[in-house]
Amino acid sequence: MESQFKKNILITGGAGFIGSHVVRLMVTRYPHYRIVNLDKLTYAGNLANLHDVQEKPNYRFVKADICDPDEVRRVFEEYRIDSVIHLAAESHVDRSITDPLSFARTNVMGTLNLLEAARRTWQPATPHLFYHVSTDEVYGALPFGDALFTEETRYDPHSPYSASKAASDHFVRAYHDTYGLPVVLSNCSNNYGPYQFPEKLIPLFINNIRHNKPLPVYGKGENVRDWLYVEDHARAIDLIFHRGRTGETYNIGGFNEWKNIDLIRVMIKTVDRLLGRKEGESEKLITFVTDRAGHDLRYAIDSTKLKNELGWEPSLQFEERIEKTVRWYLDHQEWLDNVTSGDYQRYYQKMYGN
Ligand code: NAD
Ligand code: TYD
Repeated sequence: MESQFKKNILITGGAGFIGSHVVRLMVTRYPHYRIVNLDKLTYAGNLANLHDVQEKPNYRFVKADICDPDEVRRVFEEYRIDSVIHLAAESHVDRSITDPLSFARTNVMGTLNLLEAARRTWQPATPHLFYHVSTDEVYGALPFGDALFTEETRYDPHSPYSASKAASDHFVRAYHDTYGLPVVLSNCSNNYGPYQFPEKLIPLFINNIRHNKPLPVYGKGENVRDWLYVEDHARAIDLIFHRGRTGETYNIGGFNEWKNIDLIRVMIKTVDRLLGRKEGESEKLITFVTDRAGHDLRYAIDSTKLKNELGWEPSLQFEERIEKTVRWYLDHQEWLDNVTSGDYQRYYQKMYGN
């Protein structure tokens, strides 16, 4: 019965923002793969993000912590996992500043734990892949005018978040070099789109503009981020998973740099227009606040390698995509209220008992 599946893929963090898009893509595009979504359902994990795939015959959900070695090993054995796409992480820079230890635990120890399970259960002769999903933040901050981050850029993380991701990247490469574990990595720029937890810039600000709440702009709003639509990222992960060269790293980015304050003005214009307000009316909500500690000035990714080797390119319709994203959050107020109220956490506590 179980052998009907051509691959048994463990996706970690599949109930989160990017993970849910990756799970949806893999479950629907590859009905002959079994997709096992392992997620702890922290505040950032939400099974409602996957309401449309939860009944598919090739989808399974396991509530577990990647830091629990026995549980991870059990899942590898029970589902005969042959590949991993590892996205589970603590992902918010501001939280990493107040609680760095949780980031070290999940992002470093959790990754090591998965690597160990792969090393201990996979037989060398059969095909396997451990795909580690990482961030451009490991490269540190770029001064204005400097060339984009390439795969050769030296690691220089500044926040506890990026330091923990950098450490996990190094461990993944070490398992490749030391034990011959087949791995591939990708480092991606800032994602936006539906189902992002509203503590990150774009969903937080859309929601605040709607409710006439202040928009806390760190520093002078001059920091630059390279924004990529989340489905473009999921498409890149699919390609790299299938065709990426073992042992390699691929940068994924949008070639789409925005100064925070300019992006915020686009969001204000779009929300005001869609809500029938006078355009720009919500500019008054902009509130400059104390800068984030160690705030990286600029991230920008060169994804030429991915384009040249695998033919991937970002979709370059930023204005359309951001409007689509704004519409999605405006149309899903219930989703926003639910994830911010803590109701869904209480529900999971009742369902899963921890
Ligand atoms: P997210 O915070 O939205 O989701 C993280 C998911 O991991 C949640 O479902 C959470 O429940 C789960 N999780 C957390 N700790 C866990 C644990 N100990 N065991 C099992 N599950 C656990 O994050 P995201 O924005 O979707 O990011 C996913 C991955 O992509 C991360 O590895 C992140 O570093 C990377 N990334 C994110 C971005 C971005 O812009 N969001 C950009 C580049 C790379
Ligand atoms: P964020 O979405 O937290 O992503 P990251 O820090 O991983 O890039 O923030 C994006 C940018 O927006 C970053 O430069 C910090 C800034 N920012 C604010 O100015 N105010 C806010 O309330 C938040 C959450 C972010």
